[in-house]
Amino acid sequence: MSFSSKLIDWYQSNKRDLPWRARKDPYAIWLSEIILQQTRIEQGLKYYEAFIETYPTVFDLAKAEEENVLKLWQGLGYYSRARNLHHTAQHIVNNHKGIFPNTHSGLLNLKGVGDYTASAISSICFEEPQAVVDGNVYRVLARVFGIKTPINSSAGAKEFKKLAQKLIDEKHPGEFNQALMEFGSTHCKPQNPFCEDCIFNSACVAFNNGLVHTLPVKTSKTKVRNRYFNYLVLLSEDEKTILKKEPEMVSGEISINFR
Ligand code: ADE
Repeated sequence: MSFSSKLIDWYQSNKRDLPWRARKDPYAIWLSEIILQQTRIEQGLKYYEAFIETYPTVFDLAKAEEENVLKLWQGLGYYSRARNLHHTAQHIVNNHKGIFPNTHSGLLNLKGVGDYTASAISSICFEEPQAVVDGNVYRVLARVFGIKTPINSSAGAKEFKKLAQKLIDEKHPGEFNQALMEFGSTHCKPQNPFCEDCIFNSACVAFNNGLVHTLPVKTSKTKVRNRYFNYLVLLSEDEKTILKKEPEMVSGEISINFR
C-alpha cells in the first residue's frame, strides 16, 4: 500500500470533526487556514466560529468595519493578518464579484496568501494537486523518511515541498493534505508521538533508528541577546493606565519605534 493510501485510510477513521471540513467553500477554508497559521486547532476553533457567525460570507466580511474585524481577531496577535483578511475580502468582492480564484496561481495574487494557503485552498476546494507543507508536515516527513536537512533552511523548504509533491494523491489532493497535517498534529506529535501504534512504524526511519526526538532538525539562526527598554507608563489620578489609540492601530496593539 502506498504512503498516501495508508495515510488517507488513517484519516478516514481518525479525523476530527471540524466545522470547515463540512464545506469546500473557499471562503471558509481561507478563513480557517489564516486563523490556523496563528494558533492551534483547539484555540482556533472559537475564532473561526466567531468569524463565520459574524461574517458568513466574503461579502459580509468586505462590508465590515476594520475595527470590528480586528476586535474579533484579538488574542491571535500579528494584526497584519487580520488587516490582510479584510483587505482581501474587499478585493474579492470589488474585483472578482465575490468569487475566489480557483487556481493555486490565481490565489497567490491575493494579499496575505502565500504558497501554504494557496495550496490548501486549491487542493481542498478545487482538487488541484498542490502539496501543503506546514510544521506538522515537516515533522511527519522528516521522521518517516529520515530527512536531516534543517526545516528552516531554504534547501529544507525545497526538499520537503518536493517530497510532499511526489507523495500527494493526485486524485484526492485535498484529502491527502489534510490527512498529512492531521496526522502530524494528533499522531506524529512533537512530544510523545504514538510510535508503537503507528501505520508507518515498520518503515519509519526515525522510529527504527532512535531518531524520533532528533527529527525534524531546526538550525538555531537567531542569536538570543538581552535588550533593555525603558517604559513610561502614564497613570490617571485613580491609578488607571492612560492609553490613547493611534489612528492606524487597535487597542491592545503597541508599536514601538526603535531609532
Ligand atoms: N492545520 C492547519 N490546517 C489544517 C487542516 N486543514 N487540517 C489539519 N490540520 C491543519
